[in-house]
Amino acid sequence: MGYFRQNIERAEGYQPGIQPKRTDVVKLNTNENPYPPSPAVADVIKNISQEQVRRYPDPISSTFREAAAQVNEVGPDYIICCNGGDELLKIALQAFCDESRPVAYPVPTYSLYPVLANLQNCGAIEVPFDSEFDLPAELADTGAALTIVCNPNAPTGSFVNVDELAALAGELAGVLLVDEAYVDFGEDNCAGLVKDFDNVIILRSMSKGYSLAGIRFGYGIARPGLIQGLMKVKDSYNVDSVAIAAATAAIKDRKYFKETIKKVKAERKRLTDRLRDLGFDVPDSSANFILAECSNTKAAEVYEKLVKRNIYVRYFAYPKLEDKLRITVGTDEQNDKLISALKQILSE
Ligand SMILES: Cc1ncc(COP(=O)(O)O)c(C=O)c1O
Repeated sequence: MGYFRQNIERAEGYQPGIQPKRTDVVKLNTNENPYPPSPAVADVIKNISQEQVRRYPDPISSTFREAAAQVNEVGPDYIICCNGGDELLKIALQAFCDESRPVAYPVPTYSLYPVLANLQNCGAIEVPFDSEFDLPAELADTGAALTIVCNPNAPTGSFVNVDELAALAGELAGVLLVDEAYVDFGEDNCAGLVKDFDNVIILRSMSKGYSLAGIRFGYGIARPGLIQGLMKVKDSYNVDSVAIAAATAAIKDRKYFKETIKKVKAERKRLTDRLRDLGFDVPDSSANFILAECSNTKAAEVYEKLVKRNIYVRYFAYPKLEDKLRITVGTDEQNDKLISALKQILSE
């Protein structure tokens, strides 16, 4: 008998985007925000006291809870803080799914969902999106204990209207988790649904809109009944004191947040237009990345040629994605380097 449970033995594990050691590369492969976090973040990190480090952190991250509650116009008991949005996904799978209680989600989507389903040893019902990436009607009928909809979706950048997700929440017998890791770059969000539905959980990440990917902080919004259940599953001290202080400072600096989002959206428009000029098919994106279809060239080859020029984007060898590149919106300088490299590659 092997040491591992069979599903772990079989598992390949999540494949994160490459994190090159060199800092002189153009890194547009893991959807980090190209701008630094609010200056308030550096200030609070500098001022972390020895005493804060000596003691265990607040198990429920009360200061962040209160700040996030205010931003989302709910009570603090509607918020759970996590070690990145990824931890909330793991907690949700552990809380709701097992061998007889599957998870369902439309595909293509965030490639972590099947990995977590495998770890939890639960079924994963994958319902294909149509070519327009509209919400598939069959998602309401899977009988899953947990349904996850990534919105805006990764890696497509497509957005499903809040009304459609409200209708889905009403139809489902199980829980609906809306993964809003990229929602800060969109025009609308589903936080209001927690007032009308007791089966909705909203996932938020501080990695993208708030430039805190290195800190690892995310949170969930749901009715207090669901939050209390999820709290039972999380580690007692799942978020550390430095992360709580940094994330709280970041979410409170509304002015800086709005300015950064505005800059990313402006660059997203410019990058989309330039790529379309080069002949790529680029649907409008509601996230901080775009999905560019290479109609006449092989996406995998373009990807390799970009790597040779020290430019990293993301290529997925998955159905519906193998002719596309996912490109994180960078600074104007990074985007210009990408565009000129692509011009060269296409003329070779
Ligand atoms: C769709 C989606 N959901 C959730 C996350 C989790 O983000 P984090 O754990 O950095 O908060 C990511 C990160 O890339 C993501 O792409």
